[in-house]
Amino acid sequence: MDKLSIQGGQPLSGRIPISGAKNSALKLMVAALLTDQPVTLSNIPDLSDTRFLAQLLATLGVEVYWPKGASVCHLNAATLTSTIAPYEQVRKMRASFNVLGPLLAREGHANVSLPGGCAIGARPVDLHLQAIEAMGADLVVEAGYVKAAAIRGLKGAHVNFPFPSVGATEHAMLAATLADGETILENAAREPEIADLAVCLNAMGAKVSGAGTDTIRVTGVPALSGVDHKVMPDRIEAGTYAMAAAAAGGDVTLDDAPVAALGACLSALREAGVQVDADRAAGTVRILRNGRRLEAVSIATQPHPGFPTDLQAQFMALMTLADGTSIIRENIFENRFMHAPELTRLGADIAVRGPEAVIKGVETLHGAPVMATDLRASVSLVIAALAAQGETVVNRIYHLDRGFERLEDKLAGCGARVTRQAD
Ligand code: UD1
Repeated sequence: MDKLSIQGGQPLSGRIPISGAKNSALKLMVAALLTDQPVTLSNIPDLSDTRFLAQLLATLGVEVYWPKGASVCHLNAATLTSTIAPYEQVRKMRASFNVLGPLLAREGHANVSLPGGCAIGARPVDLHLQAIEAMGADLVVEAGYVKAAAIRGLKGAHVNFPFPSVGATEHAMLAATLADGETILENAAREPEIADLAVCLNAMGAKVSGAGTDTIRVTGVPALSGVDHKVMPDRIEAGTYAMAAAAAGGDVTLDDAPVAALGACLSALREAGVQVDADRAAGTVRILRNGRRLEAVSIATQPHPGFPTDLQAQFMALMTLADGTSIIRENIFENRFMHAPELTRLGADIAVRGPEAVIKGVETLHGAPVMATDLRASVSLVIAALAAQGETVVNRIYHLDRGFERLEDKLAGCGARVTRQAD
């Protein structure tokens, strides 16, 4: 298993290009199942998660042309050869569960394993199933698989989500595009990736309105066409590098950044005393911190437009060095503080009490061997390591490869001393 060695204490300086959004790309790839015509996605990040999904789609009969390292992926689901998404593939990544609705909409039946995914809590799929069932599908959960049938097709439905789940909103939206009649999704999630998916679906001929608000309306159409779509930039990757620059200090400009989607993250950084110059039209965010100590800021994760859970670990890494005490409350996932004990190994002072972590800022962190536990937790260790004195070795970095494209290159391009070591 690969490790990362990081020699910290070096300010960062330079430019970092932001890749396409992983969480958007995954759902856009699934959308290719809805049409028998070619779907071309550009600005697609080459990550282990997007590669896993490409493999699953290929198992279902989708022709995938995506050379290694290429940022354009061609998908063609002219004929589907299987409607079974096996455990071995779905367990690797939760977003694969979203093939259920499109398979049902297109083929009338599907057999999809219940997912695995990051070890950050229970993460059930009840809201997904509630929506698909409301659209008239018959569902049976048997031996770890959801067996679904909608022999006469899916029907438009009124779904009121008890919680704005990103995955369930996208799943229902995908399925509803080919359903008979109108679907209304209330208390829908408002994440920018949902709006990106709607833009792509509408370009395929779907009738989706309200994506990005809490009420989404979808009028079903009989068939969708192919599309060329550019994946939106990754707001979590952008926020992560912004926090890395804030932690290590220096002067870093993010290029191709989704400025409008970064509101809560950039506000928190400004509150911590970091200079943030964001240019929406140019898609750039400049992060500057020279010498001045960070101020402690408390945050609570919320569905978008609140502070994203996917940046909580990174912000905690930053707050370990702040002047004062900050409280971080995790409201989305119940077990998302696995990074706290690892950050403590670097000298951080963190006490976890249920859904809250109390972080007393220290003046310096010191390098140590640490273990990556999940995707966002791993990168929080990289951030802390960049700011720490001495060497940190981050083990089990396959978690990082799930979600961060060319992480070492991007950081090294700004002067960070980061090297990957094969075990
Ligand atoms: C997506 C993102 C993930 C992010 C999360 C929240 C992708 C591929 N992943 O995950 O990076 O952290 O949004 O912004 O886009 N829940 C249920 N029942 C369900 C579905 C969800 O109880 O059927 C709960 C989950 O356990 C969790 C909360 O709802 O506590 C939020 O989950 P959700 O918004 O669905 O996250 P994902 O779509 O899995």
